[in-house]
Amino acid sequence: MNFFDYHNDEMMCEGVRLGEIAERVGTPAYIYSKRALLDAFHEFDSAFAGIDHLVCYSMKANSNLNVCKIFYTAGSGVDCNSGGEFFRALKAGVDPHRIIFTGVGKTEEEMRMVLQHDVMMIKVESFEELNVLNDVAASMSNGLSEKKIAPVGIRINPDVDPKTHPYISTGLSENKFGIEASQALNAYELAASLPNLRITGIDMHIGSQITQVEPFVEACNKMAELTAKLKQRGIVLEHFDIGGGLGVSYNGSNSGSNPGSDSPTPRQFADSLRPVLKHVGCKILFEPGRFLTANAGILVTKVLYTKQNKKKNFVIVDAAMNDLLRPSLYNAFHEIKPVKKTKNETITADIVGPVCESGDFLAKNREIQKSKRGELLAVMSAGAYGFVMSSNYNSRRRAAEVIVDGTKFFIARERETYDNLVQNEHLIDGLK
Ligand code: LLP
Repeated sequence: MNFFDYHNDEMMCEGVRLGEIAERVGTPAYIYSKRALLDAFHEFDSAFAGIDHLVCYSMKANSNLNVCKIFYTAGSGVDCNSGGEFFRALKAGVDPHRIIFTGVGKTEEEMRMVLQHDVMMIKVESFEELNVLNDVAASMSNGLSEKKIAPVGIRINPDVDPKTHPYISTGLSENKFGIEASQALNAYELAASLPNLRITGIDMHIGSQITQVEPFVEACNKMAELTAKLKQRGIVLEHFDIGGGLGVSYNGSNSGSNPGSDSPTPRQFADSLRPVLKHVGCKILFEPGRFLTANAGILVTKVLYTKQNKKKNFVIVDAAMNDLLRPSLYNAFHEIKPVKKTKNETITADIVGPVCESGDFLAKNREIQKSKRGELLAVMSAGAYGFVMSSNYNSRRRAAEVIVDGTKFFIARERETYDNLVQNEHLIDGLK
């Protein structure tokens, strides 16, 4: 299903005109479709029917409280990568027993925070971290009567090439993540010997926007071998966490699944993993982020100016790299569509923002319907790694976020105010 579609030549989100939302909240604005979020969740979840599993939404993709709440209410757990994400998950009403706590560089403060709330699993990514987590749990214990035990999953770096953008490959030896497979048994033995740790699982996450199943299968096979070896040594795991990473279509199809793209559908993904997952004897955990959100959100922006020089057409819009960093950072492609279709000719243009850098673009050399000042454009597939990667660069206020549910829409996050920009600063008395 496409939840961002044209009706009488104007793009709607579910049953709401985008123009109506823009009139009310202004631009730029992120707009998410509740039905698209839920469709993607159910599509992913149901693909693994018959396998004991839990989908734990990776909230780094879109940490809006309401987005988290929608997935949690639908039955998801949550994967948090920082104290801030954990705080947000609690604010959204998520039960800590359904939270996985991740992160290659956790602070002791973060460990204490999640231990206080008894999370489902804390992933550990180094020998040193095992010792620190054990010490933190011990320091929170009160004699034998209240012994704090940290539930631990060890993140393995399986050294598998996910064939994606180098910045978002995470399962190769050259990447900072996890413990390499050859050291894994020693890591588990260390964990088993530490009194304030309880081993619960094994984990991997090999990268993001992965468009083939083979790297997942290869990495899962390596983890399954390790799981069997651990069993022989008397270490029996409860969780087998294969992380996130399933790619989506950025070609504007805007449905949860991936028609017309190179990425496998959840069904194809599940069918390729089923043989290995069936035999590991653990509950399978998944941490999808992008798949659940990317095509459920768009960024609506307004054309400020258009201009031409002897080389190029420029469309200058009110959204910039601070709002959506992906094109500037990864050269990522996002389809850009007019909110209102006209009979205007098509031109080739750079669609750029107001920030003071040439790297500030949403699209380069893009064919687009000729637009004029005041018209709205929709930057598609912006629901994942969109708002969450936005910043205040150039002291720009971060955009509003809106959730559409049928024929209603709700402001899920107000646009920042100028006061918000300086709220944590003060002029220092005595500083001349
Ligand atoms: N689990 C872990 C441990 C992760 O590091 C990530 C993403 C996920 C799950 C979710 O992966 P997904 O299903 O969303 O692929 N900013 C980049 C993406 C970075 C992904 C980092 N880790 C982008 O805009 O493409």
